[in-house]
Amino acid sequence: MFEKATYLISSPSYNQCPKPDKFEIAFIGRSNVGKSSLINMLAGRKGLAKTSGKPGKTQLINHFLIDEEWYLVDLPGYGYAKTSKKTRSEWAIMIEDYLVHRESLQIVFVLIDSRLDPQKIDLEFINWLGENGVPFALVFTKADKQSINKGQQNMAKFRKVMKQTWEELPMFFLTSSETGHGKDELTEYIQTLLEN
Ligand code: GTP
Ligand code: MG
Repeated sequence: MFEKATYLISSPSYNQCPKPDKFEIAFIGRSNVGKSSLINMLAGRKGLAKTSGKPGKTQLINHFLIDEEWYLVDLPGYGYAKTSKKTRSEWAIMIEDYLVHRESLQIVFVLIDSRLDPQKIDLEFINWLGENGVPFALVFTKADKQSINKGQQNMAKFRKVMKQTWEELPMFFLTSSETGHGKDELTEYIQTLLEN
């Protein structure tokens, strides 16, 4: 959908990221939820962002330059139990600093496994985004792993839980990096953001 995608740089902290002079969107979510795979699907390039069956693959803030004019950012996942406490708090500082201070960040897509009932860890992270005024949308991943209907049911459950504390709900997308489900819809949404 996007014409050209190239890997630019991996940064250990937000103040080492490229100059914030371009439109930027980022992908976050639990470890292994499919962030890197989704970036590859959107960019139409399988090996662009490194993926792995083992959680904890992405460790740094990775910038990909799209069509020479804007950035897609792949972030490390949260909630990987095997990571030590120290690494976890380092993660929190790196990511929270990035999300709060990155002035060119337009929106962060929070990825959620479409097979699961609403998870505390995702809801807590979303609440943190809300408290810190970080704009976000929700992307439910791995839609191919069960029926589309089942994925939609889990999204409905998530909406219901969010409605208890949120006045306004964000955008919801259902995707599969395997089948390309939801790719056009998500791409169109990003295009709209780019144009505004
Ligand atoms: P970390 O970088 O470790 O946080 O993981 P990640 O969120 O970037 O996940 P990644 O894209 O590396 O994918 C994790 C595993 O899930 C890989 O084995 C992928 O092939 C698989 N996967 C990702 N998306 C999908 C999907 O839509 N469908 C299916 N069936 N598998 C997927
Ligand atoms: Mg990754």
